[in-house]
Amino acid sequence: MTVSPRVSGASRIPLAQPNIGPREIELVTKVLSSDVLAMGPYTEAFEEALAELSGRRHAIACSSGTAGLHLAIRALGIGAGDEVITTPFSFVASSNCVLFERAIPVFVDIEEESLGLDPELVEQAATERTRALLPVHVYGNPCRIEELESLARTHSWALIEDSCEALGGSLNARMLGSFGDASVFAFYPNKQITTGEGGMVLTDDDALAERLRSLRNQGRDADGTWMHHIQLGFNYRIDEMSAALGVAQLERLAELRAGRNAVIGYYAEALSGRDWVRPPRLAPGTEVDWFVYVVRLDPAIDRDGLVGQLMDRGVPSRPYFSPIHLQPFYAEQFGYGPGSFPITERIARSTLALPFSSRMEEGAVAEVVAALDDAVAEQGRP
Ligand SMILES: Cc1ncc(COP(=O)(O)O)c(C=O)c1O
Repeated sequence: MTVSPRVSGASRIPLAQPNIGPREIELVTKVLSSDVLAMGPYTEAFEEALAELSGRRHAIACSSGTAGLHLAIRALGIGAGDEVITTPFSFVASSNCVLFERAIPVFVDIEEESLGLDPELVEQAATERTRALLPVHVYGNPCRIEELESLARTHSWALIEDSCEALGGSLNARMLGSFGDASVFAFYPNKQITTGEGGMVLTDDDALAERLRSLRNQGRDADGTWMHHIQLGFNYRIDEMSAALGVAQLERLAELRAGRNAVIGYYAEALSGRDWVRPPRLAPGTEVDWFVYVVRLDPAIDRDGLVGQLMDRGVPSRPYFSPIHLQPFYAEQFGYGPGSFPITERIARSTLALPFSSRMEEGAVAEVVAALDDAVAEQGRP
C-alpha cells in the first residue's frame, strides 16, 4: 500500500510544522530494530527527562494530553456531581476531561492580559461541591497560577494545571508544570516538542503517581502484573517510538526554542507600526516558549472574513480559541449562549493564529505580514 503525505489546499506556508532531525530518526529507528515497542527504556527515559526539566518527583507518560488530563481527574477521585472550576477560553479537552467522569465544569471568565482563569472570579463560582481548579496556560503564557494555587490551598481544592501548551515556560523562576497537584503536558505535532501523539502527567505526590501509573495501564497494580487488575483503568500508555521521539526532541529543546524565538522576533519587527494588530506580550516575571503565534486584531476588523482572505493569498490562519461554552454540545447541555462569558467571547472574536514553527524563515514571515496588510486594506482598514 502506498500512502501519500497530505498536502493542504492552496496554502504555501504551513500553519504549524514539526521539526524532526537525524537524532529523532536515529532513536526511533533504534526502537524499531529492538523488540521493545511499548513500556520500555525510552518511556522511562522520557519520563525522567521531563520530571527533571519540570523539577517534579514523578512524570507519567501517556497517549495524549487529553488522556493525561483524564487520568488526573480520575486519580484525584473527582466524580459524578463534583464541580471543577475552569476556563471557557481553552481547547475543548480541558473541560471534556471533567465530563468524562460525570463531574461538572464550572466556567469562570478570563482575565484580559494573561487570558487565563481570573482568580478574582473563582470564589464567587465556588459551591460546597467544588473539588478542583483547572486553569490553562494559554498559548504557553502563564495564567495567574500563584494566586490560583493559594486559593486551592485555602479551600482544600485540588489544582490540576493544564500545561499542555506551556512546556518550557516559567513564572517568577518556577517552571510551568510544577504548580499542580497534577500538571499535564501534550505533544501533538504543533506543540513545542512532539511525540506524534502523547502526553505527560507530573506530580510530587507518591500515592497519586502510583494511581496514575495503574490507571494508565488498565488498572494493573504497581508492579504491572500482567493479568492482575486492582481497579478499572484505561489503555493510555505511550509507545516506545513516540517516547524515543520525545527523548530526541527534548535533547533539542533549546535549539527548537531558539528557532521559535527568532520567528517571534521577525514577526515583532514586521508587524511594528500597525495600530490594528497586537502581537503577544510578556508580563513581568514570565518566560514563555510560545507554541502558537496569536495576534489580537482591532475589533473593527472582520476576523472571520480575514481568515478567508488570507487563505486566498496562500496563508493559513485560525481563530484561536473558539470558546468552549459556545461549542454546540456545551451550549445545549448547560444552556450557555452568547453573552455567558463576555470577556472570553470578546477576546475570542479578535484572536488570530498566524503560521508559526521553529523552522519558519524570515521571508515566510514577511509574506504572511504582506498578505495581512493587503487583506486588511481590502477590508477598508479601521
Ligand atoms: C490547553 C490544552 N489542553 C489539552 C489539550 C489536549 O492535548 P492532546 O491534543 O494531546 O490530547 C490541548 C491540545 O491541543 C490543549 O491545547
